[in-house]
Amino acid sequence: MSGRDDKKIGFLVSGRGSNMAAVLEEIAAGRLKAEARVAISDNPEAPALALASGRGLPAVTIERKNFPRRQEFEEALVRVLKEHGVGLVVLAGFMRLLGPTLLSAFPGRIINIHPSLLPAFPGLEAQRQALEYGVKIAGCTVHYVNEVMDGGRIIAQAAVPVEPDDTAESLGARILTQEHRLLALAIAGL
Ligand code: GRF
Repeated sequence: MSGRDDKKIGFLVSGRGSNMAAVLEEIAAGRLKAEARVAISDNPEAPALALASGRGLPAVTIERKNFPRRQEFEEALVRVLKEHGVGLVVLAGFMRLLGPTLLSAFPGRIINIHPSLLPAFPGLEAQRQALEYGVKIAGCTVHYVNEVMDGGRIIAQAAVPVEPDDTAESLGARILTQEHRLLALAIAGL
């Protein structure tokens, strides 16, 4: 399957939701041929939930602590994603590693955005890691998701310069602008 039918998006989010918002905006403006179906957060406090409902998108909380094992947690995620007819799962600031239950339910149809030029600086605080290493070019990556943290095959990347007086925050903001552009672009190309 390809094209719009396969771009019924389910977002997995844990926090702010600015990448999700950027994609929703591109869809609403008619620049991205895709359909947003549901946003699911593992964090009931995530601002992304209100952001999603504010734009008419069903927003669901599924907390890890309510399930004995990761498998049951992921079965619940899969159930809600399937109920909403999702064909493409977009991790946009989802702070968990995925396991076989979720990965096998959407083979080759789960992507993530990460604020570094992978394979450099996977994991948390990628912008701070990049600054500490002294790189002169930083950026962001959209990649397929597998069981390795930030480890799946790369779909798209965007680079930004690192300025001499950058902090993790200023570099992070420069990268985030590119993330918002890159995620929608990557989805368009799938
Ligand atoms: C982004 O920097 C993304 O690359 C990383 O988590 C952050 C999420 O930001 N995976 P937001 O919730 O999309 O604003």
